[in-house]
Amino acid sequence: MSNRTFTMIKPDAVKAGNIGNILQMINAGGFRIVAMKYLFLTKQQAEKFYEVHAARPFYGELTEFMSSGPIVAAILEKGNAVADFRTLIGATNPAQAEEGTIRKKYAASIGENAVHGSDSDENAAIEGNFFFNGLERF
Ligand code: CMP
Repeated sequence: MSNRTFTMIKPDAVKAGNIGNILQMINAGGFRIVAMKYLFLTKQQAEKFYEVHAARPFYGELTEFMSSGPIVAAILEKGNAVADFRTLIGATNPAQAEEGTIRKKYAASIGENAVHGSDSDENAAIEGNFFFNGLERF
């Protein structure tokens, strides 16, 4: 079990002015920020990041959306980080997300769901490495 996960605050949440609210919830959830960046993905970069979903019917919509505005990318640290962060953000579909989760509060739909959270330790490492080099982690 690793103690790190990777997250993005997605374009919908950034546009809605919720970066601060979401970071506050991440902080209150006991996660330490290891690395963080504010950036605007190109369509090609979004396609590369979500390559594992390339065969899915929503891949075009997903990568279009993720390159529609700036995002915040971050590596977070806490014991049991991957599972605990998924609990904090709630179900992928905000309609099914628990009360008090980030997606319940700030997400509108399964496509525009405010935040990303890694689904495994292996993917957390791959996704963190996509955005950050060793000199950008503290
Ligand atoms: P995320 O955790 O970033 O990883 C893959 C993303 O695909 C997921 O969040 C959703 O935003 C998106 N996604 C999953 N299922 C669907 C769907 N049926 N329609 C549109 N987007 C989806």
